[in-house]
Amino acid sequence: MENQPQSQSVPPTPSQPGEAAKAAAPAEAVVKVESVSRIYQVGALEVAALREISLEAPKGVLAAFKGRSGSGKTTLLNMIGGLDRPTHGDIYLFGRSMAKMSGRQLTDLRRHHIGFVFQSFAIIPSFSALENVELMLRIAGVWKDRRERAMRSMEIVGLGPWAHHRPWELSGGQQQRVAIARALSTRPDLVIADEPTGELDSTNGRQIMALFRYIVEKEGVTVIMATHDPMIEEYAHIVFELSDGQIKDIRRRGV
Ligand SMILES: Nc1ncnc2c1ncn2[C@@H]1O[C@H](COP(=O)(O)OP(=O)(O)OP(=O)(O)O)[C@@H](O)[C@H]1O
Ligand SMILES: [Mg+2]
Repeated sequence: MENQPQSQSVPPTPSQPGEAAKAAAPAEAVVKVESVSRIYQVGALEVAALREISLEAPKGVLAAFKGRSGSGKTTLLNMIGGLDRPTHGDIYLFGRSMAKMSGRQLTDLRRHHIGFVFQSFAIIPSFSALENVELMLRIAGVWKDRRERAMRSMEIVGLGPWAHHRPWELSGGQQQRVAIARALSTRPDLVIADEPTGELDSTNGRQIMALFRYIVEKEGVTVIMATHDPMIEEYAHIVFELSDGQIKDIRRRGV
């Protein structure tokens, strides 16, 4: 895996954005957001966190929601990940209407097709890195080859030699890699990442961005990330710029 980002060096900026994704798959929409609004009721006030948002993310891309704090990035990710439902509009995931799915169906979809990565890593301190990844497979009801699958995910993120270390023996960047390995372990079609570099310095942040890009190109996974890190412009195939619950700009590189 010669292109794999190493944990100790800053990987190069990707050469030709979009080429691998284009070669790997046709532009089939993994996520299609149709006129989605999310209105929160706060006492007597209505807060419109999302206002009539429509967008598409094709298969095999790294897509990013960028925007200031409060622009609606997390709210939109939560809708796409089936953690919350729109007040109006619908989202089609892998061509299926989420509005038509029951809570149980959404849970199944999350468990088997979506991997989540959060700013805070959320790994269990008393488990080794590998055990943290295995736990996700256990939750997903995977019994067969669990250890091997977990180990493969650790290798994808460049942490094979660290598999048996405890989280406190790992740097912040390495802990976030464990969280990414965990998200990948169920072989999801889509990875949703909310501010995955938010707690990292710029060197580690860049390595994590490069790792996401690597996963998209080598594993064929689609990644949707929320971030306000300007570095994302170098790594994402599509950047959706959000402002005040609306899309203000879309920048595409190679898709
Ligand atoms: N549960 C909630 N109840 C009420 N208002 C909410 C709730 N969640 C979010 N909001 C509001 O919706 C808007 C969008 O919030 P959101 O968390 O999606 O922004 P964000 O872009 O992710 O911000 P950040 O960069 O700080 O994470 C904000 O005005 C926020 O106050
Ligand atoms: Mg947020």
